[in-house]
Amino acid sequence: MEEKNELRKKILALRNSMDKDEAEEKSSIIMEKLTQTEEYNQSRVVFVYMDFNNEVKTMPLIERMLSEKKKVVIPYTDTVNTVIIPSELKSTDDDLVLSKFGYLEPVLEKIRPVEPEEFDLVVVPGVVFDRKLNRIGFGKGYYDRILAKLKKSAKALAVAYDFQVLDEVPSEDYDVKMDMIITEKNIYTN
Ligand SMILES: Nc1ncnc2c1ncn2[C@@H]1O[C@H](COP(=O)(O)OP(=O)(O)OP(=O)(O)O)[C@@H](O)[C@H]1O
Ligand SMILES: [Mg+2]
Repeated sequence: MEEKNELRKKILALRNSMDKDEAEEKSSIIMEKLTQTEEYNQSRVVFVYMDFNNEVKTMPLIERMLSEKKKVVIPYTDTVNTVIIPSELKSTDDDLVLSKFGYLEPVLEKIRPVEPEEFDLVVVPGVVFDRKLNRIGFGKGYYDRILAKLKKSAKALAVAYDFQVLDEVPSEDYDVKMDMIITEKNIYTN
């Protein structure tokens, strides 16, 4: 998928060149909006990514969810089988280590597995999106695979900076669409 790769490269360059303060500021606007959605407020079990580089920051949201007694689930990335193993995060003091990609994840021996069928909400990362709710990630299909296992009532909410949302991006049958994309400027839904 050459076109997807070109788009990834272009948008990642933009995201990596953002300064830290701008990323922090926009992240907090995005997460504020997310916590005002019905999807968030009605959720009990939330699977959320751990950010790295200049991805939209998720730690403030995670702290808030723990204090609100939601069940917080984060990814352990099994690179041998190319699957995410979802693991419950009980507290911000849980033992986490840097994954090979650069974000924090549970240590293998301390995974507390949670079935994807339990999730009410998934906070989805991504590189490029479009207004029709298509998503392009890093290109391994990790999120497509786990999102395919959600129960029907579960929602996939992507968070991104507005420059990551284009008019149209290519998508394949296995690409799972988002229910909503929240940026600092807009909320995209259908
Ligand atoms: N449900 C699935 N089951 C098996 N393989 C899948 C599934 N979904 C996607 N894949 C495979 O994953 C590969 C990468 O897919 P794609 O380019 O869409 O990744 P992506 O959405 O950018 O990545 P990610 O989901 O990791 O952020 C493709 O070769 C595709 O065949
Ligand atoms: Mg995909």
